[in-house]
Amino acid sequence: MAILTKAPRGTQDMLPDESYGAKITEDILLDVAASYGYREIRTPVFEHTELFQRGVGETTDVVQKEMYTFTDNGGRSVTLRPEGTAGAVRAFIEHGLFNEPMPQRLCYFTSCYRYEKPQAGRLREFHQFGVEAFGSAGAAQDAEIIALAQNIFDRLGLSGIRLEINSIGCKNCRPVYRDALKAYFKDNIGSLCDTCKGRLETNPMRILDCKSPECKAIAAGAPCVTDYLCDDCRAHFAEVQEQLDVLDLPYTVNPGIVRGLDYYTRTVFEFISDDLGAQSTVLGGGRYDGLVSELGGPETPACGFACGLERLRLILAAQGVELPRKPDVAVYIAPMTHEALLRAVTLCAEVRDEGLCALTDTVGRSLKAQMKYANKIGAEFTVVLGETELAEGKAVLKRMSDGKEAEIGLDSFVEGLVAACLDEV
Ligand code: HAM
Repeated sequence: MAILTKAPRGTQDMLPDESYGAKITEDILLDVAASYGYREIRTPVFEHTELFQRGVGETTDVVQKEMYTFTDNGGRSVTLRPEGTAGAVRAFIEHGLFNEPMPQRLCYFTSCYRYEKPQAGRLREFHQFGVEAFGSAGAAQDAEIIALAQNIFDRLGLSGIRLEINSIGCKNCRPVYRDALKAYFKDNIGSLCDTCKGRLETNPMRILDCKSPECKAIAAGAPCVTDYLCDDCRAHFAEVQEQLDVLDLPYTVNPGIVRGLDYYTRTVFEFISDDLGAQSTVLGGGRYDGLVSELGGPETPACGFACGLERLRLILAAQGVELPRKPDVAVYIAPMTHEALLRAVTLCAEVRDEGLCALTDTVGRSLKAQMKYANKIGAEFTVVLGETELAEGKAVLKRMSDGKEAEIGLDSFVEGLVAACLDEV
């Protein structure tokens, strides 16, 4: 019955120690995003399958091979979201956010689902933090989201994450590039994988990010998209770089970045870390000026990115980053009698009202066992309450890390504890 006690392949549980760190990280991400004016949205875990087929693109690996799609009891085809942008765009259109002041800056945390071959940093259920800016076609918007991404890494104290950028053109120059690619791959069709043979006519750009080694080898010699940009795309890309330069953001132009989703136009970028092994991209994004109208909304330029949270945590761990952490349990109150337990229960309630964690005995343990437990759970302070303490209205507050003791009045317990937490006793 291992199936009952083993999570599905490619999924992960997050236990309390890890989720505590994840929460601190996520608060920092939200904080940075808020400082750029991005406000959080939440969209459903599943959407109509067509949304991803149209949005992400019929010929992408994600749609062709990786979606968790099923028919619900009402006979509708629904899909667990493989990424967050399509849902954000759908919500933007559905709720008429285009009537609000532009640009609309949105951010989100999402779980995502892709049927991929699991390995380190590659899961079937993973999580993203994403930002999407709707309504600005200006290069300053591209630079803003790239700077936001860089700021996240800086605020987390991470180093060695490289930024690579590229431009993949627009609806005007892309067809010329497509033709050049088509001609190139046609000459090598015999060595392409079956999926890419099919992509040759429909979407030859997708062959560039095929994971098969044979296709990768052929793609290495393919025409380069930057040689086919129209004047407007060239100017836009130059302006993005100018903005990154004034922000002192180091980057390299990598013409090999095409991204794996169909909606991108013009700027695309990835942040890459050597701490991740094969799955080295921690964050990816770009501009997608055609997606809102493609999905039925008004013509709206947009750009955004998503950061893989599992990959971010791998880098944090590899670089040994210690995030600020307050003790989980501020005080453990150990009662020795029933009367003392009743007092401990009310003292705990007072401490919790202050936003601190207080625990007392719910098991009926001996004093020795209670102190052992308090030690194991890392309580910052302990207090023993017995008949004498109740009679005298005071007890001894002991700091577990160094054994330092201070007297604490039971009638001013919270004040005494807060002072002790601030090291004022
Ligand atoms: P993406 O490049 O497909 O872009 O995913 C963004 C990030 O999600 C990746 O850089 C990676 O960190 C993480 N990721 C992707 N697949 C997996 C996986 N199987 N396991 C673990 N982590 C993974 C998007 O999803 C776009 N929606 C980004 C975007 C937003 N573009 C514009 N706006």
